[in-house]
Amino acid sequence: MTKQQKQKELDNLAAKFMAQDPLPELRSGARQLVPGDGNPDADIVFIGEAPGAKEDEQGVPFVGAAGKFLAEMLDGIGLKREDVFITNIVKYRPPNNRDPKPEEIQASMSYLMAQLKVIEPKLVITLGRHSMNVFFPELVISQAHGKPVRRSGHVFLPLFHPAAALYNGGLRQTLIDDFALIPTLLHKI
Ligand code: URA
Repeated sequence: MTKQQKQKELDNLAAKFMAQDPLPELRSGARQLVPGDGNPDADIVFIGEAPGAKEDEQGVPFVGAAGKFLAEMLDGIGLKREDVFITNIVKYRPPNNRDPKPEEIQASMSYLMAQLKVIEPKLVITLGRHSMNVFFPELVISQAHGKPVRRSGHVFLPLFHPAAALYNGGLRQTLIDDFALIPTLLHKI
């Protein structure tokens, strides 16, 4: 598929998800769907947890403080937001930024997996333990971060969440160090 075709497929998936409306309660508490942003033909897909207030306002994932830090780290390895694809497990902002409920995650998975099928990235990067545990319930982020894992046809790299690392100096440096592994890892896949 060309990049344009992939974008069209992603748009179709968003339209289908909205038509099916599997999370009416979550949807009615949010301003809009936050489907994902960036290159539909990207080598790397980043997956966060759920949109926050800024993301809900703009309809774009990772545009708040955590997103700014993510963009800085991308810049550090010579990439821009437009080069990668960024999304979340759950596509509507949970009220008061509470954690998504297991059934909300469950109801969001087929959309997320369909996005991955269209984009066909080389590398899927989970941000934070919640996003990691959706794919790898058995892993613990303090041990699993920065170590690639192969599963169900994808290579995953679990990383700490930029929001958690923002105000924690040690975690911040760990996340920056893990980020530095990405170019070599991509090259090897
Ligand atoms: N945190 C997330 O997990 N996702 C966003 O889109 C923004 C902040």
